[in-house]
Amino acid sequence: MTKILFVCLGNICRSPMAEGVFRHIAELEGLGGQVEVDSAGTGAWHVGAPPDPRAQNATARRGIDISMLRGRQVKPHDFERFDLILAMDAENHANLLRMAPPEHAHKVKMFLDYAPETGQREVPDPYFGHSDGFNRVLDLVEAAARGLAQSLKS
Ligand code: 4NP
Repeated sequence: MTKILFVCLGNICRSPMAEGVFRHIAELEGLGGQVEVDSAGTGAWHVGAPPDPRAQNATARRGIDISMLRGRQVKPHDFERFDLILAMDAENHANLLRMAPPEHAHKVKMFLDYAPETGQREVPDPYFGHSDGFNRVLDLVEAAARGLAQSLKS
């Protein structure tokens, strides 16, 4: 069992989209029973909130329901509990490394490092932008979710 935590700032846009997309791709790839998936935010503003409606809609258009997810903040125990802690951008990555006990710091990685073909290291924050930003997030997240699934199979 590989336990994976996706992390962004608010846990209402990028990381719940990543959680839903990766869970879906893991099922398709026959990894469903071998992974445990969750998401969290480095910030606390949206604790208990469902994903942003724009994130829900964009993800639903690709056949994936994330309406049941609820925001939560990263907590110290997450560094013990999860095997991989995947940051959506460099700021989340830096904040996670600041929080991580040294023995667990190796678990903190950039999610897009699983999609080198995108030429990007960061999933841009779509919260303050146009709804097109959510489709761009999904394109990047799908590519990295596929790369992550492959890495777990090999
Ligand atoms: P996320 O997007 O980190 O992808 O969930 C954001 C959501 C909310 C805020 C910032 C980013 N906010 O400032 O409230």
